[in-house]
Amino acid sequence: MTQPARSATDEAAVRFSAVSKRFGKTLALNEVSLAVRRGEFMTLLGPSGCGKTTLLNLAAGFFSPEGGEILIDGERVNDLPTYNREIGMMFQNYALFPHMTVEGNVAYGLKARHIAKPEIDRRVAEVLGLVKLAGLEDRKPRQLSGGQQQRVALARALVINPTVLLLDEPFSALDKNLRASMQVELREIQRKLGVTTIFVTHDQSEALSLSDRLAVMSEGRIRQLGTPEEIYRRPLERFVASFVGDANVLRGRLERIEGAHAILALGATQVRVPKGSLRGGAVSAPVDLYVRPEHLEVIETSGPCARSGTIVAQIYQGGYVDLFVECTDSSIERLLVRSAGHQAMTRWPIGTKVGLAISTDEGVAFPIA
Ligand SMILES: Nc1ncnc2c1ncn2[C@@H]1O[C@H](COP(=O)(O)OP(=O)(O)OP(=O)(O)O)[C@@H](O)[C@H]1O
Ligand SMILES: [Mg+2]
Repeated sequence: MTQPARSATDEAAVRFSAVSKRFGKTLALNEVSLAVRRGEFMTLLGPSGCGKTTLLNLAAGFFSPEGGEILIDGERVNDLPTYNREIGMMFQNYALFPHMTVEGNVAYGLKARHIAKPEIDRRVAEVLGLVKLAGLEDRKPRQLSGGQQQRVALARALVINPTVLLLDEPFSALDKNLRASMQVELREIQRKLGVTTIFVTHDQSEALSLSDRLAVMSEGRIRQLGTPEEIYRRPLERFVASFVGDANVLRGRLERIEGAHAILALGATQVRVPKGSLRGGAVSAPVDLYVRPEHLEVIETSGPCARSGTIVAQIYQGGYVDLFVECTDSSIERLLVRSAGHQAMTRWPIGTKVGLAISTDEGVAFPIA
């Protein structure tokens, strides 16, 4: 088994440096640069076709990039075949070997690496304990539930002690509850082992809840890299603001700049936002304010409001209520207000005339293109 020597000079476990990949006329990746730290849980998030799987496949060595460099542990791997990369993989259709037992499936990668039998037995037992499958060694995949099959696939990826774990939408076939519990377990196991992980999803709530950092992608580029909180609270561009989480877009006006902040006028109120995303927009110019539904509040119409409108729908969500408010202040806007608890259901019935207030310091504003 040839394992590239670990380099102490590169702190990144995986580094993509201006990586481009083309399929015919499609530029699937356009000079993507990304450094994944050792032990980090990095998520690639983006709409269908944005290049997530392509980036993962390049890390795995299924094909080579046309331009740029890929380094694993400081070693250039552009032309290193998959079987020399020490990579654990789990894909959406994780394709267990149907004729092999759980034990056989998990041991497969070790046998292929010519590891001695006692060592294989020890590692298979250890990893099956880790994914809570001890006792099911002799079952065939068809005798397992969906969640158990998923665990076999995870065990199979982990058993080789991979330098990097690559996961491509591994839970997308599972129902909501199973998916949630597998997410928690994956994160626990990943932390315990400290294995560098690149996880692909187009599910933004999965990305926000699991990742140390996430890279939001579209059209073959990384649009923003940051912690879940940075991405959610301080999106740097409209695409990120609308793709990650729900956002209301309200037209306002730039009133003035105060230090690092911009003061916006919305209806009869003023809202403070970071000025960075406005890129020096002119005072009194129109701007779009992106506000999360939990940062809008329904208020009485008697006070100063950012908007006024009518409650047109209520959706009970269990822990919170979604209220839809149709505003006709300027053009017609349908805004979503997320209210914790259930009281909003009775307090603001459908048809009520209401005002809206915006939490200060929470929104992000962009100039009108
Ligand atoms: N083998 C291939 N041959 C031709 N085009 C390809 C190939 N693989 C990917 N593409 C194209 O490259 C682009 C990126 O594809 P990729 O599979 O990386 O997207 P993705 O972000 O994983 O999307 P999804 O969320 O749907 O899985 C798409 O336009 C896709 O059609
Ligand atoms: Mg994909």
